[in-house]
Amino acid sequence: MSVASINSSIRELSSGGALSGKVCVPGDKSISHRALLFGAIAKGLTSIKGLLPAEDPISTASCLRAMGVKISPIEKDQIVQVEGVGLDGLQEPDEILDCGNSGTTMRLMLGLIAGRQDRHFVLTGDDSLRRRPMQRVGQPLKMMGAKVQGREKGNLAPLSVLGQKLHGAVIGTPVASAQIKSAILLAALTAEGTTTVIEPAHSRDHTERMLKAFGANIEVGGEMGRHISLTPGSTLLGQEINVPGDISSAAFWLVAGALIPGSLITIENVGLNPTRTGILEILQQMEASIEIINCRDVAGEPVGDLRVSYKGKLKAFVLNEEIMPRLVDEIPILSVAACFCVGESRITGASELRIKETDRLAVMARQLNAMGAKIEEHTDGLTIQGEQILHGANVDSETDHRVAMSLAIASLLAQGETRLSRSEAAAVSYPDFWNDLEKLRI
Ligand code: S3P
Repeated sequence: MSVASINSSIRELSSGGALSGKVCVPGDKSISHRALLFGAIAKGLTSIKGLLPAEDPISTASCLRAMGVKISPIEKDQIVQVEGVGLDGLQEPDEILDCGNSGTTMRLMLGLIAGRQDRHFVLTGDDSLRRRPMQRVGQPLKMMGAKVQGREKGNLAPLSVLGQKLHGAVIGTPVASAQIKSAILLAALTAEGTTTVIEPAHSRDHTERMLKAFGANIEVGGEMGRHISLTPGSTLLGQEINVPGDISSAAFWLVAGALIPGSLITIENVGLNPTRTGILEILQQMEASIEIINCRDVAGEPVGDLRVSYKGKLKAFVLNEEIMPRLVDEIPILSVAACFCVGESRITGASELRIKETDRLAVMARQLNAMGAKIEEHTDGLTIQGEQILHGANVDSETDHRVAMSLAIASLLAQGETRLSRSEAAAVSYPDFWNDLEKLRI
């Protein structure tokens, strides 16, 4: 059975057939952005192995290059070298910084540039990014003295930033968001005095881990590491970074392997940072058969191989806001899983999903319902009936990478042919997704 492409954008997907074999998912997207950013402002060379060669990190690299940072080409299986310019070395770009589709690029970039005194920056992005809220980062940065302007009182890109002398502050963030936390910590590196971020819940902590490795004076305390303080003054030094595979990309194969009869997939070298492993917790509660093998520590991040196999029907699940930061990017693929398990699944506390690359609650409900699913949408979640027979249909990623890949897995579980429009969106985080799917189909 083959995954035939009609043209670059519409993909015909046939149903059925187990998935089997080994797959190595590409580098973690969150870690890849941070490796480029911290490498750029460190002293000396940073070499990055396993950097995700996809559109989002390429956007981060091109913004940094526009500010005078030399970064070698980002290509599959190539070590990427970043020639750090030091904390004060970023130049004023003579062009607009284009963040493409990447929210992480725009939000972390805001933190990076806010304290570059007397330098002016303009940031923009694609149609989706220009609709996403930036005030959540602009507002805390203003508490440190930053000047950020844009449409809708500074909420929407294009944004203009005039670098200022920043001062440290104690900032409580209203949502657990690693993008907000990381932007504040990046700004704190060039501020006067200590800055403390207090999160309502612990969001992914790659920034804290990596800044510490680069030599920043950062302290993590409070209940579950929710209080993070950074005191400027230390010199960041270039590092050798090994980027593990992205658990958010592995999630598509975990769900496919657990749901498609006869499947057995080994996913090698997956990052298992506990702030990211909510998908494993939920799949285990659903009684999926997942083994974690070869656990090791790679450059300050836990890593392992995951072996998933089909062992019968899965149980329905209930998700609330407690677990959300640990699986926020896996809701689209979990909503596919919910259509096939026994019972009714409920997702609550997920209103953040509405401001991702698309409104992922609305888009997943719309696209899966077009395949015959029974999904009810709520303000902050979804109720999904299990044991549904989905049928192939004309569906659309609506330009969202995680929606494209989730619908591909849904099409394998449906009856008949599915035509997926704008399938090329997958390249934002997983350029080889379609090749890997082809390889795993028996
Ligand atoms: C990311 C944080 C999360 C996540 C996004 C990547 C990061 O967003 O959804 O894909 O690298 O910091 P929020 O910070 O908005 O939760």
